[in-house]
Amino acid sequence: MEEGKVINDERGPFMEVITTTAAMDNNDYSLVITKAFDFSRILKSLLVFSALGVTFLVLFYSSSNNNGQFVPSFGRLSTFYGGNNGTVPVKDEYYDLRLVLEAASTKDKTVILTTLNDAWAEPNSIFDIFLESFRIGNNTSHLLDHLVVIAVDEKAYFRCRNLGFHCYFLKTKQSSKMANEARFMTPIYLEMMWERLAFLQTILSLGYNFVFTDTDVMWFRDPFPRFNPDSDFQTSCDSFNGNEFDIQNAPNNGFLFVRSNNRTIKFYDFWVSSRHTYPGLHEQNVFNEIKNGTVVRELGVKLRFMDTDYFGGFCERSKDLNKVCTMHANCCIGLDNKIADLKTTLEVWKTYLSSNHTTTRQPLNWTVPNKCHM
Ligand SMILES: *[C@@H]1O[C@H](CO)[C@@H](O)[C@H](O)[C@H]1NC(C)=O
Ligand SMILES: *[C@@H]1O[C@H](CO)[C@@H](O)[C@H](O)[C@H]1NC(C)=O
Ligand SMILES: *[C@@H]1O[C@H](CO)[C@@H](O)[C@H](O)[C@H]1NC(C)=O
Ligand SMILES: *[C@@H]1O[C@H](CO)[C@@H](O)[C@H](O)[C@H]1NC(C)=O
Ligand SMILES: *[C@@H]1O[C@H](CO)[C@@H](O)[C@H](O)[C@H]1NC(C)=O
Ligand SMILES: *[C@@H]1O[C@H](CO)[C@@H](O)[C@H](O)[C@H]1NC(C)=O
Ligand SMILES: *[C@@H]1O[C@H](CO)[C@@H](O)[C@H](O)[C@H]1NC(C)=O
Repeated sequence: MEEGKVINDERGPFMEVITTTAAMDNNDYSLVITKAFDFSRILKSLLVFSALGVTFLVLFYSSSNNNGQFVPSFGRLSTFYGGNNGTVPVKDEYYDLRLVLEAASTKDKTVILTTLNDAWAEPNSIFDIFLESFRIGNNTSHLLDHLVVIAVDEKAYFRCRNLGFHCYFLKTKQSSKMANEARFMTPIYLEMMWERLAFLQTILSLGYNFVFTDTDVMWFRDPFPRFNPDSDFQTSCDSFNGNEFDIQNAPNNGFLFVRSNNRTIKFYDFWVSSRHTYPGLHEQNVFNEIKNGTVVRELGVKLRFMDTDYFGGFCERSKDLNKVCTMHANCCIGLDNKIADLKTTLEVWKTYLSSNHTTTRQPLNWTVPNKCHM
């Protein structure tokens, strides 16, 4: 596949990723206090609780669906401890993350993940458009209960909290300012993408399946019924050749469904470590390098490629509005262009819904990409 295919968009505002981990082992309590002060502007009045150390951390990081109010979290918290007969829960480096995943997870331990930074979290920016798609989608709004927003800076974190979603603040190596400004394929950008990959491996290791969705993916229908029941790793595609098993499809990892099992955990491990084999490539290109390699074939990872008719994008749009589950603003450069065309996409969907779609086959006119281009 030629290089141009893969440079499909200004991939999300990712980010610096998880480094909460190593630091937490030694000194949980000092970390609690440090984090508390990080947010002291907003939480000053709550600092009185800092004597409660752990409790504060739990409150702060545990996600909620309660419109950002801290108080109702006590309920969840006591339930949590109660379920444990008052014994202290496992307190390893993934403590915060576990709480969030547990709260957001479906019964079969699946979460929906997206990453968010300041710019994309702004009102009327990508995140709002993303959320609106769930609300106007066919039976998709309940899926927001399972969404975990991985915020990479304070503003994104507080926006997420205020909107009442499950939020996880991913403390990262770069400053958020640097992350915001990271352009496609700069060293910081690459670092962020690789850290994100390692973070996804952590999610799998904790036993959670996930749908990873870029925030510029519109959700119009529930994708779960469309996932192949016999798969480990399913990826959307920039272009799809009609065969979901064919590793020569052009994948776009901006929308993924991955099941947690030994194969995928090892696969992600290998993928992350392959960075050094292919210096200078980003994780999507390295995937293309390793997907038919000996290691991946021996692991027996069941890779599947999603049909663009169901999981389309601006690169290759769904040909049928009666089928489309998601629409990704890939093949798009520039945040303003992306916003404009995603808004148009929502309008097209609304028009479709208000028409007599049950009987007539829709004359298909997405009208996008319009502002977007490569
Ligand atoms: C904890 O609670 C469970 C039921 O919720 C009970 O079966 C178990 O004996 C309790 N363990 C202790 C140590 O109290
Ligand atoms: C929405 O979902 C319902 C129930 O699954 C279905 O009957 C209906 O046809 C769907 N509408 C569209 C526009 O897909
Ligand atoms: C909506 O989705 C939920 C969960 O998947 C399902 O239980 C419910 O039947 C769906 N509703 C319709 C109208 O399809
Ligand atoms: C995964 O690997 C571990 C250790 O190698 C093993 O104990 C476990 O049974 C495996 N699980 C599955 C589902 O294969
Ligand atoms: C994958 O690798 C195997 C073994 O090297 C080879 O036979 C096969 O043609 C490759 N498939 C693709 C699509 O490259
Ligand atoms: C949709 O089309 C069918 C068949 O043409 C018709 O019977 C029905 O009344 C139409 N519904 C609306 C809301 O126009
Ligand atoms: C699609 O919509 C655009 C804008 O509304 C219009 O200019 C264009 O002619 C339409 N194309 C078709 C094939 O209907």
